[in-house]
Amino acid sequence: MSEKTPFYITTPIYYPSAKLHIGHAYCTTVADTIARYKRLAGFDVFFLTGSDEHGQKIQQAAEKEGITPIQYVDRIVASFQELWRLLGISYDDFIRTTQPRHHELVQDIFQRIYDQGDIYKGAYTGLYCTPCESYWTKLQLDENGCCPDCHRPVQEVSEEAYFFRMSKYADRLLAYINEHPDFIQPVSRRNEMIAFIEQGLEDLCVSRTSFDWGIPVPFDPKHVVYVWFDALTNYLTPIGYLHDKEMFHKYWPADVHLVGKEIVRFHTIIWGCMLMALGLDLPKKVYGHGWLIVNGAKMSKSVGNVVDPVALIEEFGADA
Ligand code: ME8
Ligand code: MG
Repeated sequence: MSEKTPFYITTPIYYPSAKLHIGHAYCTTVADTIARYKRLAGFDVFFLTGSDEHGQKIQQAAEKEGITPIQYVDRIVASFQELWRLLGISYDDFIRTTQPRHHELVQDIFQRIYDQGDIYKGAYTGLYCTPCESYWTKLQLDENGCCPDCHRPVQEVSEEAYFFRMSKYADRLLAYINEHPDFIQPVSRRNEMIAFIEQGLEDLCVSRTSFDWGIPVPFDPKHVVYVWFDALTNYLTPIGYLHDKEMFHKYWPADVHLVGKEIVRFHTIIWGCMLMALGLDLPKKVYGHGWLIVNGAKMSKSVGNVVDPVALIEEFGADA
């Protein structure tokens, strides 16, 4: 048995919808720096990164190229792994949401939460932004009635769907955040999350029938598990949740989920409620970092202002 103190650190899992830019590399490089420092300091580090491969956007991108979704993601994920190799990223595992180990775990988790009554069938009508894979309420839209993140038009969508009873956990989550000042950092993000929960939490749509590039709901396979339920669970798969008790108890709860500021909400509120439903501890820390910006706008493929990390590595080397 190892006597070292475990330390579990994660990056987000990246969408293989585009080439990675230096904004993505920023988060992974910071995580790598922390992981290397902790190893040197004698911790038993588990550093996880990966790819978030399901959803309508990826299915559509593959169709456009006339290839299957798996062919599409295989090619792009290979380019991610090549970038991390060039940058010397010392990850211990690379999770792909298309892997059988993850597929199986997501179905087990969905079934468990359904069996205990925290997932139920309903109907969803909402405003959906396909590029961002996000639903918005009218109040959240920007001044032109568009997606508040990417400022493109949203569509009204109505379909049968499963819902996760998130509202049930709102009070407990708020109490937890108030009692654990280190859980959400920096404090600006923490305050934002507290304000968000205080407005009241609605139940969350966790399945879709409008596309099929995803993990089927085990008891109703015309539904696929909707992105955040499929994606956030990536943090449990590689450390043996429901499969390897010893490993899981060693690394969970995670020491830090390092994420961009726009996904702190998913990593604290949705993920916090999901973990409570599973009877698991919450991660010790979710750290929401800022964005690399160009002329005031987030560096992003859709804005078209990206800097290619491979070109920078070729010119200046990975250390720089
Ligand atoms: O959000 N500067 O994936 P993603 C800094 N699959 N960070 C940036 C950035 C920039 N200009 N552009 C993007 C997803 N990022 C989901 C995550 S986790 C269970 C699922 C960061 O590929 C962004 O903030 O769109 C986020 O943390 C990460 O890249 C992945 O973005
Ligand atoms: Mg994004």
